[in-house]
Amino acid sequence: MNHKLALKHPIFDVISRSAEALQLKCFVIGGYVRDYLLERESTKDIDIVAVGSGIALAEEVSKNLPNHPKVQVFKTYGTAMLRYEDIEVEFVGARKESYNEDSRNPIVENGTLEDDQNRRDFTINALALSLNEEDFGDLIDPFNGLKDLDQGVIRTPLDPDITYSDDPLRMMRAIRFATQLNFDIEEESLKAISANKDRIKIISKERIVTELHKILESKQPSIGFILLEKTGLLGYILPELTALKGIDEIEGQRHKDNFYHTLEVVDNIAKTTDNLWLRWAALLHDIGKAPTKKFHKTIGWTFHAHEFVGSKMVYKLFKRLKMPLNDKMKFVQKMVLMSSRPIVLASEVTDSAVRRLVFDAGEYVDDLMTLCEADITTKNPKKFKKYHNNFKLVRDKIVEVEERDRVRNFQPPVSGEEIMKAFNLKPSREIGIIKEAIKEAILEGDIPNEHEAAYNLMIEKGKKLGLTIQD
Ligand code: CTP
Repeated sequence: MNHKLALKHPIFDVISRSAEALQLKCFVIGGYVRDYLLERESTKDIDIVAVGSGIALAEEVSKNLPNHPKVQVFKTYGTAMLRYEDIEVEFVGARKESYNEDSRNPIVENGTLEDDQNRRDFTINALALSLNEEDFGDLIDPFNGLKDLDQGVIRTPLDPDITYSDDPLRMMRAIRFATQLNFDIEEESLKAISANKDRIKIISKERIVTELHKILESKQPSIGFILLEKTGLLGYILPELTALKGIDEIEGQRHKDNFYHTLEVVDNIAKTTDNLWLRWAALLHDIGKAPTKKFHKTIGWTFHAHEFVGSKMVYKLFKRLKMPLNDKMKFVQKMVLMSSRPIVLASEVTDSAVRRLVFDAGEYVDDLMTLCEADITTKNPKKFKKYHNNFKLVRDKIVEVEERDRVRNFQPPVSGEEIMKAFNLKPSREIGIIKEAIKEAILEGDIPNEHEAAYNLMIEKGKKLGLTIQD
């Protein structure tokens, strides 16, 4: 089959002519070809394999491009990269590779195109299009990758034990592609992943996290997490989640399976937000439930303070996975910590509770509502409707309260300075007491969030504390 249409971009013509000049054969391979055939949005990364020196080809291509872009050479890997407009082209010489047991560093020898296709991860990623004059655009598909694309199957070109053991990151990639494309992982591959799961330890945390992000960014992330669990990889990567699995029963009382509940929440939130960190919050919102789970004869199962415990666990988890310990992490912690707050509101919406929620969540109150709406996984249609309707009321009330009371980024209407001046005070605990009383009165709705009302309350509170106002 010919796919010249995939090669419309002028860069392909330049690469083709450059290869001709060097008298070597070259091909587009991997993600670009896969995504073209899947009619996915075309990637801006193009991988070129040259039967010969990839570096020499990259240099020749640069010479033939109008602005002679800089060629970045990675000597150890024998690869080179250049940028042209918004496209990144990576060049590699066709290789025969084998890996040694304890590292990802391959022992590399020159090889044919087929050798190179053999050493790739999946049949759907080994598809190549010729860039050579005589058969420009022809598909070279020695492992029936096209059939696997049509049937939605992730399969390795070689014995899966070899492919995964060679590069254990591919176990994560298999699961990530299965999630992104909604494909099935072929049975032997799945078995090989389970058998090789502990080799994931040699892979850097950063690369694992990249794959986790891609799984979380997919339309239905649960596909990936179920596969990670089924193959045993999840226990190495996110043991906090595997700990949520299972249902205990004592004296006829059961709690829900918090692992599957969590995945439902993640799938729900994936329908309403693309915010990766909010998706992380959904994934982690219940992790505190495993360490806090208790059974009480009188009240049944409890997970006391699981939100607080969970938010502390977020830090350790991010640290272990070498994820950023920055404002993103703090955001996830805050969401986990507050994840049960709006639930109380789902049954009864009061002004003061909404004001407190807006006050505590600040600029993230909308994200928190999104998380809590996703957390509604009841199978009882009446309850489902009731909770959603109440959350709608909460959202309306948030807007109303916001307009009236402006508590989202609360600034006290009477400052500490003003209190000191009014009562001729030096810095002291009375100031804190008065400020707190004003804040409480505003949140409770006893006074509006305005200077005059707050000032009057200040006088009243001051008197009660035995202070006298200065004229
Ligand atoms: N590849 C591989 N084993 C890996 C990583 C990559 O065999 N562990 C090969 C695959 O043929 C892949 C190509 O290198 O198609 C390019 O890799 P990469 O750019 O990481 O992935 P893409 O397939 O392009 O997909 P995506 O951009 O979605 O990551």
